[in-house]
Amino acid sequence: MKGRISKLSAVALASAIGFATLATLVQAADPISERREAMKGNGKAMKAINTALENGGSAAELAPHANQINDTAMKLATLFPAGTDQPQGKDPGHTMAKPEIWQKPDDFAAAVKKFQEEAAMFKTAVAGGDMGVIKAEFEKLGGACGSCHKAFRAK
Ligand code: HEC
Repeated sequence: MKGRISKLSAVALASAIGFATLATLVQAADPISERREAMKGNGKAMKAINTALENGGSAAELAPHANQINDTAMKLATLFPAGTDQPQGKDPGHTMAKPEIWQKPDDFAAAVKKFQEEAAMFKTAVAGGDMGVIKAEFEKLGGACGSCHKAFRAK
């Protein structure tokens, strides 16, 4: 009986590893989908924060969203590999990323950096717990999303 259980778990483990590898490959092969998912995550997190702030939510409630946005900000630069400005469009597999991202890499890097700074400041504000500071930083964070979209996202 004992032998049988360990054999079964070995099989389960092998298939779990297999799936993990497959998922990694699929993701790496499709940077457009990966970055659109990351951006959708940004959108959901900002919405959740906004709702919590409007409803008098606590700083503790905001922490997971602040962390998520911070994590996304840290990896944002890696989500725009060269050659992923095509095909343009809103449909699945298409991208709204403007070619300017790759034509003006310094400007884009500055927008990413600004976002990383604001995401870190927001996270710090949330950890501090002062709702007035949190709201002010939330505005600034939203500004960093908007200014990058204005310059680098197609309408
Ligand atoms: C440094 C630039 C930059 C920053 C900062 C940025 N974005 Fe984006 N965002 C983009 C680009 C470029 C796209 C288009 C990506 C694509 O279609 O490949 C995009 C797409 C999106 C989308 C559409 C996703 C989809 O495909 O449905 C949402 C939602 C979004 N961003 C939300 C946010 C939010 C919220 C923030 C701030 C918390 C943010 N973004 C910060 C550049 C940025």
